[in-house]
Amino acid sequence: MEKIVVNGGKRLQGECSVQGSKNASLPIIGATMLTSGENVLHMCPKLRDTTTACEILQLLGCKTNWQDDALIINSRGLCNNEISKNLMNQMRSSIIFLGAILARCGEAKVYFPGGCDIGSRPIDLHIDALKKMGVSVNECGGQLDCKVDGDRMHGAEIFLSFPSVGATENILLAAVTAEGKTIINNAAVEPEIKDLCNYLNKCGAKVVGGGTQVIRIEGVDRLTPCEYTIMPDRIVAATLLCGVAATGGEVLLKSVNVSNLSSVLPVLSDMGCRIRIFGKSIFLKSKDFLVAPKQPIRTMPYPGFPTDLQPIMMALSCVVGGTTIFVETIFENRFRHVPELKRLGASIRVEGRVAVVEGCRELRGACVYGTDLRGGASLIVAALATAGRTEIFKLCYVDRGYEKIEDQFSKLGAYIFRL
Ligand code: EPZ
Repeated sequence: MEKIVVNGGKRLQGECSVQGSKNASLPIIGATMLTSGENVLHMCPKLRDTTTACEILQLLGCKTNWQDDALIINSRGLCNNEISKNLMNQMRSSIIFLGAILARCGEAKVYFPGGCDIGSRPIDLHIDALKKMGVSVNECGGQLDCKVDGDRMHGAEIFLSFPSVGATENILLAAVTAEGKTIINNAAVEPEIKDLCNYLNKCGAKVVGGGTQVIRIEGVDRLTPCEYTIMPDRIVAATLLCGVAATGGEVLLKSVNVSNLSSVLPVLSDMGCRIRIFGKSIFLKSKDFLVAPKQPIRTMPYPGFPTDLQPIMMALSCVVGGTTIFVETIFENRFRHVPELKRLGASIRVEGRVAVVEGCRELRGACVYGTDLRGGASLIVAALATAGRTEIFKLCYVDRGYEKIEDQFSKLGAYIFRL
């Protein structure tokens, strides 16, 4: 079984840049289906999830290929409207292809999506919105047989009961070529939504308010393909910062959207890291004895503390002085990394959605297993701070969201390699 081996305890230092955003690239890859020509997506990360997304597009009749950092997608030949159960099971974001397929083909057969087992992850908000836009949905044995009533979907005023990222994206992909106006109230405001709206508008869509709580879309007849550069990955950026902070090192992180880390940098600073901003670069200097943040870390929709960073910040909190409290408000099963961190000697108590971490100086090397994408990254951060040898297995999870994470940390001086 493939593994990453870390001989930790070494102070990291250096500079590095950040890969393109997984969670921006996936909806944008889906959105290319709304055009019938060649799109060039620069800074698209090469991941398991983007590979799966390309497999889905190829199944539907599109052509995809990589040229350096760019993913080239030609959706002219799109001729199929069914995604197999196996491909749907590979990742959560397969469900956001539904809106695009319906917009292009008028009907779609998909299955409930897979993805990290961090909660029940329902899709009721997606389905309810599409129904309001004139889609009939029949569910049988996990398959969703969807059909647009009439020639094309029509606009609607949607009120999301929760600012769901995926539901906001699905509605956007359905609405940009629907008949008339769509308004999304209580839309997700994550930066990845704004990136998707920027891409759609560059293709000729009429979307106003992307990245705010109210998004207004005026349907147009067609979108034209374009060349687009995907935003840097804010969770990968924060993971690199946490990894360096955990070793008492220093790093210059280049080409990041600093404002996307507005809820993360203050926590690292509160823990004792010195942070300086130089345009699109972040300089972080840690020290040997960081301390626990004064306030509990409560995950919230953007611009609150990102749930995706909770496992990784927890790994850092294991090796600082004092007690850190985590409250996970987004997903009901997002502490699966805790037993693996405890194998390394971490002191963590979990009660429902609350985890209490007693920081300790020394963890001990061990064999640990990834449980989900960000849980896998948290084990690597913990291993970097642990003197001795740690082996991390089940890399299939971390490879879904990080482009060769071991290379990134190795460039900063870590003894880390994949076997
Ligand atoms: C996106 O997932 C991200 N994935 C997740 O990142 C991220 O954690 C999450 O947004 C929150 O920021 C991608 O973008 C591919 P949601 P998504 O819909 O769209 C409930 C990672 O590690 N909900 O905002 O699935 C749901 O149960 C991944 O990169 C409904 O109840 O998140 C959850 O409690 C993990 N009904 C909450 O909303 C619905 O129809 C947030 O879900 C949809 C969601």
